[in-house]
Amino acid sequence: MHRGKGMKFVGDSRVHAVRHSNIPKDYSEYPGKTEAFWPNFLLKEWMVGAVFLIGYLSLTVAHPSPLERIADPTDTGYIPLPDWYFLFLYQMLKYSYASGPYTTIGAFIMPGIAAGGLLLAPFIDRGPERRPIKRPFATGFMLLALASIIFLTWESVVNHDWEAAKKQGAIVKTVAVDKEAEGYQLMQKNTCLTCHGDNLQGGAAAPTLQNLSLTPEEIAKIARNGRGAMPKGVFKGTDEELKKVTEYITQYNKK
Ligand code: HEC
Repeated sequence: MHRGKGMKFVGDSRVHAVRHSNIPKDYSEYPGKTEAFWPNFLLKEWMVGAVFLIGYLSLTVAHPSPLERIADPTDTGYIPLPDWYFLFLYQMLKYSYASGPYTTIGAFIMPGIAAGGLLLAPFIDRGPERRPIKRPFATGFMLLALASIIFLTWESVVNHDWEAAKKQGAIVKTVAVDKEAEGYQLMQKNTCLTCHGDNLQGGAAAPTLQNLSLTPEEIAKIARNGRGAMPKGVFKGTDEELKKVTEYITQYNKK
């Protein structure tokens, strides 16, 4: 018994008997408006896509993303800043009734009302009128929201300490310090490293001691008298020893 007995195979229906080379189907309703998807239409799409791709690639080369140093979750002094399109929300959280004990108002309730209003707008504003001038409430709220967003963004930009922001995120190259040196041992003995890191790399408690621009005398003064959050009298050794420490640190100064 043969399969397909009594039937006549004329060919595989998935393959056209005659190959038409890209003749568009005749959609008579749209005369002259059709074109073959493959390759005519796709080629156009790809060409436009390639222009954008090359454009974006050139932009990333011309303007590399402003990367900062590796994020350090223990650094509580770091002030993060959202991207520009969220600056208005960020700024709102600085006002007294939207921050601190009222932070839920600034973080959830106010943005929630705005987003909720936008979501419900089609149900609230059901008038047939389309012209903005005939829809005073919708237009008014839209302009109010726009003005607030522009104002808050502006305020956050002019009030941000961009100098400090640049400094806190700066990428500082640290080298592996010489741990055999006497200066290093003396720093270990005087607890410098517990705060400044065993590679002088700094940490949550204290800044790095690499890439400084301080003279040995200035460092000696800080080691004896402290400064800011660094306590007084940390260094308990002799002046001779202190000299070794300061010279040790300055060898890793900014070149
Ligand atoms: C208790 C933690 C602690 C210890 C221990 C400590 N430091 Fe500091 N150190 C700090 C802090 C915090 C600062 C930043 C002070 C400031 O902001 O003015 C600092 C700053 C410095 C600076 C200035 C850095 C700069 O960026 O200008 C030097 C130099 C320094 N320390 C050296 C030493 C030496 C040398 C020792 C050991 C004798 C030592 N520190 C021990 C916490 C410490």
